[in-house]
Amino acid sequence: MAYQECIDCGTKYSIDEIVYFCKKCGDLLEVNYDYEQIAIALKKSKWTSRPLSVWRYKEFMPVKSSTKIVTLKEGGTGFHKCSHLEKDVGIKSLYVKNEGENPTGSFKDRGMTMGVTKAVELGVKSVICASTGNTSASLAAYAAKAGLQCTVLIPSGKIAYGKLSQAMIHGAMVIQVRGNFDDALNIVLKLSEKYRNIYLLNSINPFRIEGQKSLGYEIFDQMDQNTPDRIIVPVGNAGNISAIWKGLTELYKLGFIEKLPKMTGIQAVGAAPIVSMIKKGEKELTPVSKPETVATAIRIGAPVSWKKAVRAIQDSNGTAETVTDEEILKAQKMLARLEGLFVEPASASSIAGLKKLCEKGEIDRNERIVCITTGHGLKDPDIAVKSSEKPVEIDASLEALEKALGLGSTKLARVLVE
Ligand code: F0G
Repeated sequence: MAYQECIDCGTKYSIDEIVYFCKKCGDLLEVNYDYEQIAIALKKSKWTSRPLSVWRYKEFMPVKSSTKIVTLKEGGTGFHKCSHLEKDVGIKSLYVKNEGENPTGSFKDRGMTMGVTKAVELGVKSVICASTGNTSASLAAYAAKAGLQCTVLIPSGKIAYGKLSQAMIHGAMVIQVRGNFDDALNIVLKLSEKYRNIYLLNSINPFRIEGQKSLGYEIFDQMDQNTPDRIIVPVGNAGNISAIWKGLTELYKLGFIEKLPKMTGIQAVGAAPIVSMIKKGEKELTPVSKPETVATAIRIGAPVSWKKAVRAIQDSNGTAETVTDEEILKAQKMLARLEGLFVEPASASSIAGLKKLCEKGEIDRNERIVCITTGHGLKDPDIAVKSSEKPVEIDASLEALEKALGLGSTKLARVLVE
């Protein structure tokens, strides 16, 4: 009942065929279903009594048999009410969906449980991806679990250390490309067209998106079968915002929800081809040739899924905005200090975007808003250390500690003692 379909010309392909772009027109593919059959399957199943996780929604996934599912218990991430941030930003309702709580520390695990399960179904022995870091960490872990050979291509010198360590410890073959993410993706696309048995698991692969759409379903469930007015998402290669939107539109088609949220995409100033396309009202994407940002996860100049993302933003009446590196780092600190959530810089761009859009008056302060934070802060500890106050070093004596705390003399001392 599931099939792959070109988003432009509608040509259909079997879910058993390894195909990444439409063979007729070259456009992106997506997985579609006979939704009446899904409705029947849902009625028969006890899906609402399953725990929150990607596989709670397996009737919505293109898998043939539940026995082959490759899982590390992904999904079911925290949905945090952020009352301090609400006050700080001046809005009524804010939740953060914290995807750093996934097994390898990012939302990519939702896509990889599905994508690697598909690889096993297809009988391939080798998987590959290009990555700014998180995709490689996630693929390496799921490939290890499935016993598949894994190769990851990363941009030389521009990947956060936490992510690199994950790909390495899980035993992936790590290849550093002299170039950026776009260059690396370009060559893995060519390689996987040439060698059909090396399965590509970047988000161009429509099965990845099927796993990631569970993020939308979980928000619906965590809001007691409701939806927010707006979802704010960091955008890099543009798969995630497209996936969340796909999940929600499926719930809409099936009659679970009546209103769809405004999808709002945030990019870093130095890597913002989608925002600039939307703001200028252009029909085609103009890639950024030398993307640059402190948020290395979204340091991408030619997002491969731009068409799906632009449709999600425009069809939902949403918007797109850029944030500076300074705004990103400020938002990262704010989230950590006001809400106890430590996220990596790219993730904090959703919070920075929220703040900016509120200041610009583009967000109604009464809206119910969900910000997606996409990856854990420990992925990139160097940034956190660099942007925080340095630790104080003292001798191991009570006097030195009292002196460091200013006890007995200053205002700080009174605060501490009281
Ligand atoms: N946030 C984080 C932490 C990411 O790692 C990524 C993408 C994004 C946001 C953007 O998501 O690409 O679906 O729009 N990281 C990819 C990678 C590109 O290779 O790990 P997107």
